[in-house]
Amino acid sequence: MIFAADGAPDFEAVDLSDDLSFKHGFPHPFFTWLRENDPVHWHAPTPITPDGEGFWVVSRYDHAMEVLRNAEIYSSDTGGDRQGGGTTLKDERAAGKVLNYTDDPHHRVLRSLVNKGFTTQAVGRLEDELRRRANLLIDDFPIGRPFDFVAHFSRELPLQAICIVLGVPQEDRVQLCELIDNGLEAESQNVLAKEYFVQILDYARGIIAEKRRNPRDDILSTIVRARLDGAHLGDTGGRGLTDEELTNFFVLLFPAGAETTRSAIGGGLRALIEHPEQLQALRDDPDLVKSAVEEFVRWMTPSIYKRRTVTRDTELAGQALKRGDKVTIWEMSANRDGLVFDEPFRFDISRRPNRHVGFGFGTHVCLGAGLARLEIRIAIEEMLRRIEDFELAGPARWVPNNRLLGLRELPLSVTMKEENK
Ligand code: HEM
Repeated sequence: MIFAADGAPDFEAVDLSDDLSFKHGFPHPFFTWLRENDPVHWHAPTPITPDGEGFWVVSRYDHAMEVLRNAEIYSSDTGGDRQGGGTTLKDERAAGKVLNYTDDPHHRVLRSLVNKGFTTQAVGRLEDELRRRANLLIDDFPIGRPFDFVAHFSRELPLQAICIVLGVPQEDRVQLCELIDNGLEAESQNVLAKEYFVQILDYARGIIAEKRRNPRDDILSTIVRARLDGAHLGDTGGRGLTDEELTNFFVLLFPAGAETTRSAIGGGLRALIEHPEQLQALRDDPDLVKSAVEEFVRWMTPSIYKRRTVTRDTELAGQALKRGDKVTIWEMSANRDGLVFDEPFRFDISRRPNRHVGFGFGTHVCLGAGLARLEIRIAIEEMLRRIEDFELAGPARWVPNNRLLGLRELPLSVTMKEENK
């Protein structure tokens, strides 16, 4: 990170709209400076900033909460005279049509359609099956030689879980995951990701047609049959979801379930190995697993920033925000805010309280948080139960991306406990 003589960062050197600014990881020193000196910062547009517009950068926890809490002022759909909107920097035309790009009351109606698959009870029913699957994955760890933990475990468990919840055939999971990964990678290199997106959409259309023909007990079958109570839209008597609405659900839910949890499990395990005293503490007191799960999510913050659009002129931390302005909230920065977290740069599996915003907050709080927490907990419990010793066998590989922390590779070698060989 480049700092000028007066201690301020070189703003031209850190373009937050450029994925390459994240190629060495999250630019923590830059955000630490922002939190302390310019917590609601105006980011001027650069040649590559989407739509050629500047945007606000919210770096402190309290301000992030203020934005996330006030969805009427900070919209996930749109604001001002925009044609598009949504929650990434670039204005998306799908704003107003996809669950996470809508505001209440429409958002609430859409969310209620899929909520059923993610309630505490529904997630709880998956525990035995996910534990069984986690153990099968561990059975296949190559013993005595390095292997990629992402391919062997941290990518697999979330993928298998989301296939069960949505009702996607397990044999399609790797192909789908590669499309998503390749799309993200292409985006990061500013190469057209469209071909991958088209293939995912094609897949979505196919599986939705299949669910219409052959409904089962899964979320895609549920939404195919659902009636949308569109009273708030002027629809009377309700209607089924359109094909576009159905494919939108798939295109949101599958990657949301597959991508982020992988980084939380893989990156969290890496942090544990790098902090052997924490690993030992967890072995000594397995009840710490719950707080360890939260620390994995805070530490990694796999979903790095969100965007909102200002719906009416307002003020935040003394800055005048105008109707239609884009505002970005950086959860990764909020989760390192020393005003809220004691020693925020210390990895501490017993951290309490740990009110991180890794799963967001407010009306759009992560729908899959319960599922993600279960997967991370099972991963920690089963790994510690069966593995004697972990060793990092090389550097981790990440996809440089400002939106998602994409873990691609984590070389590891392990020694199994005698009784589990
Ligand atoms: C560690 C893993 C995960 C992290 C860190 C994470 C993070 C987040 C965050 C920060 C949001 C808020 C978005 C916003 O405010 O605009 C969110 C929303 C969402 N997440 Fe997750 N997520 C994770 C796992 C999952 C899983 C397993 C699913 C399952 C499908 C999922 C599905 C969703 C959905 C559908 C939304 C949109 C909710 C809405 O707009 O009402 N997430 N997630």
